[in-house]
Amino acid sequence: MLEGKTVVVGVCGGIAAYKVVEVVSKLRKLNAQVHVVMTKNAAEFVTPLTFQTISHNLVVTDMFAEPKTWDIQHISLAEKADLLVVAPATANIIGKVASGIADDMLTTTIMACTSPVMFVPAMNTAMYENPVVQRNIEKLRELGYIFLEPDTGSLACGTAGKGRLPEPEAIVRDIVSRLVPKRDLDGIKIMVTAGPTREAIDPVRYISNHSSGKMGYAVAEAAGRRGAKVRMVSGPVSLPKPRGVEVTYVTSAEEMYREVLKTYEEFQVLIMVAAVADYRCVGISSKKIKKTGERLTLEMTRNPDIAGEMGRLKGNRILVGFSAETDELINNSKMKLESKNLDMIVANDVTQEGAGFEKDTNIVKIIHKDGSIRELPKMSKNEVAEEILDEVVKLVGTGRFTAGN
Ligand code: PMT
Repeated sequence: MLEGKTVVVGVCGGIAAYKVVEVVSKLRKLNAQVHVVMTKNAAEFVTPLTFQTISHNLVVTDMFAEPKTWDIQHISLAEKADLLVVAPATANIIGKVASGIADDMLTTTIMACTSPVMFVPAMNTAMYENPVVQRNIEKLRELGYIFLEPDTGSLACGTAGKGRLPEPEAIVRDIVSRLVPKRDLDGIKIMVTAGPTREAIDPVRYISNHSSGKMGYAVAEAAGRRGAKVRMVSGPVSLPKPRGVEVTYVTSAEEMYREVLKTYEEFQVLIMVAAVADYRCVGISSKKIKKTGERLTLEMTRNPDIAGEMGRLKGNRILVGFSAETDELINNSKMKLESKNLDMIVANDVTQEGAGFEKDTNIVKIIHKDGSIRELPKMSKNEVAEEILDEVVKLVGTGRFTAGN
């Protein structure tokens, strides 16, 4: 599958380095050429000999070691790479690259690399969440570096939280999807809604929900990678704009409705991941509401049902909805599928561990109009996005529309 592809793997000094041995082994089994560069600290965790044996190539750790070949190694490795994967990516390497420091074999190779560079961070939760690390990640993302989200779970330091290296299979799947990208949505125009909406109460307060936008942004980004022209209408989230996706930011459900409607005609597929508020306040107070009595009653009125309305105006478009439920997942989701005139609904039971709002993973059931259901195991939201798009490709293949109409 990866014949003719070269992956340079940069291993840093973290306990998760041992998992990267399996990543290298899996890449080799897919027939990729793999070259490993280790930092000095990485060699304290796993020996270069291990990576050498698994990768079938010499492992480079030292800039000034006696050269094994005539060429300048960091340049030749950087040139060879179709993808450079840094795993585990420590706070240190992220900080160095973000600051333009190139003082060892790995950092100089990254600096000289013109192919995509992907960081797979793994570290203690507090370190990962440290604003300095987050700012460095943001800076590198803006510069086009790719980041795989760490998993949440128990960590080697004895704590639990976000910061685990994703499982080797997940890392390899991501690498494969980048090296052999599907272009099966070429020429298709897809609109995606994402994130929460906010319904104002007064100038300082609002009603909203826990949607982070992660699921919707993953769908939009994957659709763009697969060749679609993507427009995303996003509620307020703190995620970076996905590459190659046109984004319009909105706040309330009414604004989202207006924005979706504005260009609906141009799009062939609409994927509605947004968690839209069903109600808004009747009349927003122009002044901050003061504490007076023991109770406060807010009067609310229905918001437009964007999915329902687009279902009514559907034509030959493909409409995909999402369904966040806490009970009766299948029945409630099937009712939404039918009442909103959708082709497919992606149902998630948000009470399940590892599913729903804010998480990096999701557990979904894809329900089709004919009643068939595909149950997917717990996966990263990026992987769920790919699965949903595979289903969309099948629907597109039924020839409901011709690209461009
Ligand atoms: O953003 P994340 O933190 O990654 O979380 C992901 C998610 C949990 C938000 C996502 O997986 C999800 O389930 N999204 C839909 C949430 C939801 O509000 O479902 P619903 O059952 O209320 O709505 C059903 C469908 O109708 C959805 O496609 C929704 O976008 C749409 N809808 C709902 C209400 C409304 N007024 N207009 C709509 O278009």
